[in-house]
Amino acid sequence: MGIEYKNVTKSYGDRMIIPPFHLEIHEGEFLTIIGESGSGKTTIMKMINGLVEPDSGEIQMNGENIANMDMIQLRRKIGYAIQGNILFPHLTVKENIAYVLRLLGNSEEKIDEIVENLLEMVNLSIEEKEKYPSELSGGQKQRVGIARSIAASPDVLLMDEPFGALDAITKHQLQKEMKAIHKKLGTTIVFITHDISEALKLGTRVMVMSKGEIQQIGTPREIVEEPANEYIQELIETAFIRWEEEV
Ligand SMILES: Nc1ncnc2c1ncn2[C@@H]1O[C@H](COP(=O)(O)OP(=O)(O)OP(=O)(O)O)[C@@H](O)[C@H]1O
Ligand SMILES: [Mg+2]
Repeated sequence: MGIEYKNVTKSYGDRMIIPPFHLEIHEGEFLTIIGESGSGKTTIMKMINGLVEPDSGEIQMNGENIANMDMIQLRRKIGYAIQGNILFPHLTVKENIAYVLRLLGNSEEKIDEIVENLLEMVNLSIEEKEKYPSELSGGQKQRVGIARSIAASPDVLLMDEPFGALDAITKHQLQKEMKAIHKKLGTTIVFITHDISEALKLGTRVMVMSKGEIQQIGTPREIVEEPANEYIQELIETAFIRWEEEV
């Protein structure tokens, strides 16, 4: 699904967090968003699934204003993965992942099949599926959350720093999986990260934000070869020099 922000604004008290904001997210693209803390990345993302309402302007999905849509229907089409503990504590791993699949009326057999595939995809062993979230490590919970967000093959997948708390190997594995899922399903993905290497590696387009505004949006190559300002230039340099500093 294509998404369009038209003249969207948001203030909290007398602070304007998002000045008039325009953006078109193309159907099937993998848009990564990066920018300093507090620049409005999460706010912009939450407007897509209605968790934040703009003060003015509108967000359209395939040309229709989401403010006029049935929120429950809309959210079923949107996968959402965030950092931190977002699992239902009273449900097992399997039931957490299966939650939307059940709402959509899938058979038990189908659910078992999908859940097993997803567990493998996010690098969790089948034995974990009867566990409760309190019996998992932080990284394992994170992976269950990712599996849940993609379980129902959503049209749009929103991911807010989903790999922040993961070890390097799992992170690398999931990055590969996300690329594969995107390629296979053509899902429109919006992905927030603080890791410029990740933003460049995953995005078909990369958007850099500061103070609620888009500093630059373009392909990874455009961002690297023609950074629009010093901040972006520096951001990119950190991606390249980090390794040298660490060894
Ligand atoms: N519910 C709220 N009430 C008041 N201020 C808010 C609220 N939600 C967000 N803000 C403010 O809006 C600004 C943007 O927040 P947002 O969460 O979008 O930033 P972000 O770019 O996602 O930052 P981070 O990288 O730290 O996650 C921040 O200054 C934040 O303090
Ligand atoms: Mg955020």
